[in-house]
Amino acid sequence: MAKLLTIQGGKPLQGEVHVRGAKNLVPKSMVASLLGSEPSQLRNVPEIKDVEIVTNLLTIHGVKVDRDSTGGTMSLDPRETYSAEHSEIDAYAGDSRIPILFCGPLMHKNGEAFIPDLGGCRIGDRPIDYHLEVLRNFGAVVDKQPNGIHISAPKGLRGAKLELPYPSVGATEQVLLTAVLAEGITELKNAAVEPEIHDLIAILQQMGAIITVYTDRTIRIEGVARLSGFKHRAISDRNESASWASAALVTKGDIYVRGAAQRDLTAFLNIYRKIGGEFEVDDEGMRFWHAGGPLKPLVLETDVHPGFMTDWQQPMVVALTQAHGVSIVHETVYENRFGFTNALKRMGASIQLHRECLGSNPCRFGQRNFLHSAVISGPSELKGADIDIPDLRGGFSHLIAALAAKGTSNVTGIEIISRGYEHFIDKIAGLGAEITISER
Ligand code: EPZ
Repeated sequence: MAKLLTIQGGKPLQGEVHVRGAKNLVPKSMVASLLGSEPSQLRNVPEIKDVEIVTNLLTIHGVKVDRDSTGGTMSLDPRETYSAEHSEIDAYAGDSRIPILFCGPLMHKNGEAFIPDLGGCRIGDRPIDYHLEVLRNFGAVVDKQPNGIHISAPKGLRGAKLELPYPSVGATEQVLLTAVLAEGITELKNAAVEPEIHDLIAILQQMGAIITVYTDRTIRIEGVARLSGFKHRAISDRNESASWASAALVTKGDIYVRGAAQRDLTAFLNIYRKIGGEFEVDDEGMRFWHAGGPLKPLVLETDVHPGFMTDWQQPMVVALTQAHGVSIVHETVYENRFGFTNALKRMGASIQLHRECLGSNPCRFGQRNFLHSAVISGPSELKGADIDIPDLRGGFSHLIAALAAKGTSNVTGIEIISRGYEHFIDKIAGLGAEITISER
């Protein structure tokens, strides 16, 4: 039965939440363990759906995955891996994009891999052409089948000179996870350099990989014949931290985020402060609050790291509905990441979407038919509404809006939020929100 979350809005969120390892790193580190000849240990693992999906996928390939009682420490033993049945893989793939990253490790282990059709948030077309192109360059043979992709390496995988058309996070991870055990040297130009990529590189280096990152988005990987295991504490989830920070701002609250790491939030914090949020930092985390006075509008453009991340855009748009004046947000990473604004408009926000690039830099979506710029006029009084969650970050943004709104919101589809936000219902309740959960 589906869950219904009822939110009585209008209360400032106050108190503490604990943010653990990054959703966009932990499942990928789990995949990296497949490359090792020895067991690995990963700490700071959150209890989220994406971790569950990858646990299932690893288990059906013979990896023994165990978690301690708090769930935070995971051990992964890949010493007896084998090819899984296609039907099993299909059943466990779920709504995730992680299965595509199994290609390289499974080809190294078993000579072949089957990747089911991918899930993930509907925030654009989300093709996998870069992934398949780099894999072909390593010598893989890709066979598209009705319910997925069969990929094999009949002559083994060899290092290659590669250049991505765009610094894709997933395609960069694909290259790293394939190149470390490929024969010879791989050079990847126009690579993504997100903090989660650096954390994955740290893991692979511990396992014995030789990887150099240059300042111009070039990564050079010298293939080695064997990798061991790793012991690593996952980097904290900067997207979850930014989400709680936005929640503090929009609800005029005050939230201490245990585990938040300032270093990975620089671009976010600049914008947060310009709008009217405040923060302070200690050794354990960060405190975020509304500094008082009216919030200020601004012009904002999402970008790859070190720019303002696309995953921060949605919660920040909710804050901008409360700013005094006109703000512009130009989304340059995903062509269709403003769908969530429909619900905000129903709640009373004034937001217009445009096909043109309204930021200072024209982007790849400018000459095409995508509503990828938003003009937000504020402040708007938000009213409770019935909301069906569309995607992970958009969904969390709806929660923030409902928590700040006057009146009652009935929210369905909250299971999507569990993909990336650990125990979020307990967390918002712990921050003083008036909520009830029922079945429907
Ligand atoms: C990762 O997605 C994250 N997901 C996303 O987080 C995040 O928004 C994104 O990186 C950008 O930081 C995970 O880590 C699981 P990309 P990924 O490849 O790797 C295009 C969240 O809410 N592209 O960097 O799939 C693509 O369409 C999620 O936590 C191709 O055209 O993103 C997009 O426009 C959402 N062909 C751009 O590149 C390809 O083969 C960047 O995507 C691959 C990507």
